[in-house]
Amino acid sequence: MTIETCITTDIEKAARFLQAGELVAFPTETVYGLGANAYDTDAVKKIFAAKGRPESNPLIVHIGAAQDVEKTAIHIPENARMFMDSFFPGPLTLILERAPLLSSVVSAGRATVGVRMPDNEIALAFIHTSGTVVAAPSANLSGKPSPTTWEAVREDLDGRISCILMAEWTTVGLESTVVDCTVDPPVILRPGSRTLSELQGVVPSTTFSSGRSPDSHDGPRSPGTTFRHYTPEATVIVVDVVQEAVRAAAPEKKIAFIGLDSPPDISDFALTHIASGLTDYAKSVFEFFRRCDRAGVEVIYCQSVADLELGLALMDRIRRAAAR
Ligand code: TXA
Ligand code: MG
Repeated sequence: MTIETCITTDIEKAARFLQAGELVAFPTETVYGLGANAYDTDAVKKIFAAKGRPESNPLIVHIGAAQDVEKTAIHIPENARMFMDSFFPGPLTLILERAPLLSSVVSAGRATVGVRMPDNEIALAFIHTSGTVVAAPSANLSGKPSPTTWEAVREDLDGRISCILMAEWTTVGLESTVVDCTVDPPVILRPGSRTLSELQGVVPSTTFSSGRSPDSHDGPRSPGTTFRHYTPEATVIVVDVVQEAVRAAAPEKKIAFIGLDSPPDISDFALTHIASGLTDYAKSVFEFFRRCDRAGVEVIYCQSVADLELGLALMDRIRRAAAR
């Protein structure tokens, strides 16, 4: 069924859709989110339908003020309080024990809930005006690259959701760091722009679960990280040095390149993005994938970076885009 999608900059209008049990895509500092009232089970169910998201994959609840964590979670441990004091608002999601009043559909039936306070004025005003807490995954069709522009949201969800709260390009470009605070020491389940060393600066025992091997004993991953993700239509190939991409450039194929170093002859490529640094690379990568799809690119070469700090989060997304 197709519904009319209202595209607006009017925060109050968007909030009214949310209050009426409808879905509203809204900007955050990481990527655009697809929001529903987290206390309204029917509204939350619409998120899974609109995205084609597996119902076993839990959603993050977005709060407009740090004290609203009490509306979503109970028995909040001291480690989580310390992370909140240092990093809320910001690109960090805390996994906590779910408050009984919250729809269990939000957490896919789990006893836990992911909570985050976005560092984006429009997002915070939207949540405040809605007068509730907002369950929201990234506002893309399941499996597609996360949306960093409102146009990308429209591309995936026009006719499937009631409203897009239109704003600028998101600043971070990769989804939040997810850290499980129901265990001690806390464990990073999904890397993001809040890095392991930043978290360790607050809770030194914090660890990272790479979870590459399902049999490994380094703890569970965030369920979402086991699903196919971030995948453009084009084939994604990771290259260590630019020369590899150039050598591999078959003239009959439409190819693209994103990385930190410019290839010697960019005319080999239909599209290129030479990032000014790691921050720009992270901010640009998902929209670059989408641009490539729009242009009918067949192969996207992504230059690898060191698996450190923001680079760890970036390579996590790029490797999963490359895994077929
Ligand atoms: O930056 C972000 O986190 C964006 C913006 C919109 O806030 N949201 C986002 O949501 O990336 P989503 O649904 O695409 O990814 C949420 C991740 C998934 O890997 C999910 O499995 C995990 O968080 N997650 C959510 N609730 C969880 C829970 N209770 N336990 C473990 N993992 C959880
Ligand atoms: Mg997502």
